[in-house]
Amino acid sequence: MSIRPLPPPVVGKAPPLPRRIRLKIQRIFLDLTGPEVDREWRRAWSSIDSVEGWLLEGQERWLFDAARSLPSPANIVEIGSFKGRSTCCLASGCRGTKKRVYAVDTFDGNECDFPSRNFFDEFTENVRRCGLSDYVMPVVGVSWETAKDWRAPIHLLFIDGSHRYEDVLADFEGFFPHVVPGGLVAFHDVGEEAWPDVLRVWDESAKHRLTGTGQYKSLAFGRKPLLAGAR
Ligand SMILES: C[S@@+](CC[C@H](N)C(=O)[O-])C[C@H]1O[C@@H](n2cnc3c(N)ncnc32)[C@H](O)[C@@H]1O
Repeated sequence: MSIRPLPPPVVGKAPPLPRRIRLKIQRIFLDLTGPEVDREWRRAWSSIDSVEGWLLEGQERWLFDAARSLPSPANIVEIGSFKGRSTCCLASGCRGTKKRVYAVDTFDGNECDFPSRNFFDEFTENVRRCGLSDYVMPVVGVSWETAKDWRAPIHLLFIDGSHRYEDVLADFEGFFPHVVPGGLVAFHDVGEEAWPDVLRVWDESAKHRLTGTGQYKSLAFGRKPLLAGAR
């Protein structure tokens, strides 16, 4: 009896997987690895990414991290929510906690620098689609009028409403007294050529009343000092 050797295996390259499948595998792999905070953010980002907004790249993650770093319970006040992009970033950092985002906006733009109109339904739909309705309380109204009736302590104040000097100043002065010692305050559009008034309020009225100030692109931030009058 003669034994015939097996033919040698065919060595060659497997055909490449389609890009769509490769991305899917990559996403599953990333979802199973890496720090929990990154995985949480990636999951949140997959729905937030399609919400219209004005943040610069990376500022979305900054807002998420800032909200996530707060103890629970905590109140986050956002002035100027538009269609919910920044709101959803903040609210994603509240998932599974008793932290809440109060989204203060007319949801109707304003006369001088924000001509969009009547976007409340789009806002609520975006928040719902991102699965964040439990963490977002819309406050419909003019910001400085809302400030007059505000009573709750604020742990993170994010100012991105009207960009006119008097309005930005009124937003800061109206809500700052409610920020708890050690609380975070952030302004959007600081140093943007189009918005010199925001920079003016930050430079003249805000930054010297905060400690640990910093800037991430056009997002300037700092903390209210723990001791009154201390910097
Ligand atoms: C630049 S957009 C906010 C963008 C949003 N933070 C984001 O990143 O997706 C400014 C928002 O402020 C709102 N706004 C302007 N003036 C306001 C005022 N006085 N009171 C309340 N909301 C105001 C506008 O309706 C608009 O939605």
